[in-house]
Amino acid sequence: PPLSPLTITFGPGNATLEPQGQVLTRRMSDLEGLFVDGHAWRQAVVDGDPVVYTVVSSPVPEVPRELPQSITTIYPGDTGGEFWMTKGHQHPDPQGEIYLGLEGRGGLLLFDGERAEWLDMGPGTIGYIPPGWAHRSVNVGDEPYRFLAVYPGSAGHDYGWVLAHGMGLRARRGDATVELVPFGAP
Ligand code: F6R
Ligand code: ZN
Repeated sequence: PPLSPLTITFGPGNATLEPQGQVLTRRMSDLEGLFVDGHAWRQAVVDGDPVVYTVVSSPVPEVPRELPQSITTIYPGDTGGEFWMTKGHQHPDPQGEIYLGLEGRGGLLLFDGERAEWLDMGPGTIGYIPPGWAHRSVNVGDEPYRFLAVYPGSAGHDYGWVLAHGMGLRARRGDATVELVPFGAP
């Protein structure tokens, strides 16, 4: 059954939603095959398998016609020079999605299979993901990077697409700022 109208509030530090649905924790070991430097990835798994990001959802379910939301927190760090990031996915039922930056400094990497785009994200930035663009979020700062996502409940999540097609670009730690390099570059 559809939900009744409700309000949802940000919890302490904008890190949580109240009321809250499920909480997902992604550790380094969950990110196999995503960082270009596989040796650095394996070493990080052995060296304590850190939490790379968490996703807390509102109670709105991922079902058609509903409009679920979630807050993602990506912790700061890099693996072999590549900034910590989400797995990234494509929506099997292509539909738009909105991200709102809450805390920290991040980027939104978008790839439609041919073109790659990078959007700088920070508190107050709305990043729009058009239908058909795979998306991955990256923390490019020294603090947790946090954003709210709002997406159609029927969109679904395809993680295999990114493993098969890549994301066009990778975000590496540069001297002063983020360095975007071709996806296959070491
Ligand atoms: C939902 C969405 C975000 C991500 C979250 C984690 O469509 O784009 O809520 O799901 O940032 O990233 P992934 O799902 O790529 O692990
Ligand atoms: Zn999405």
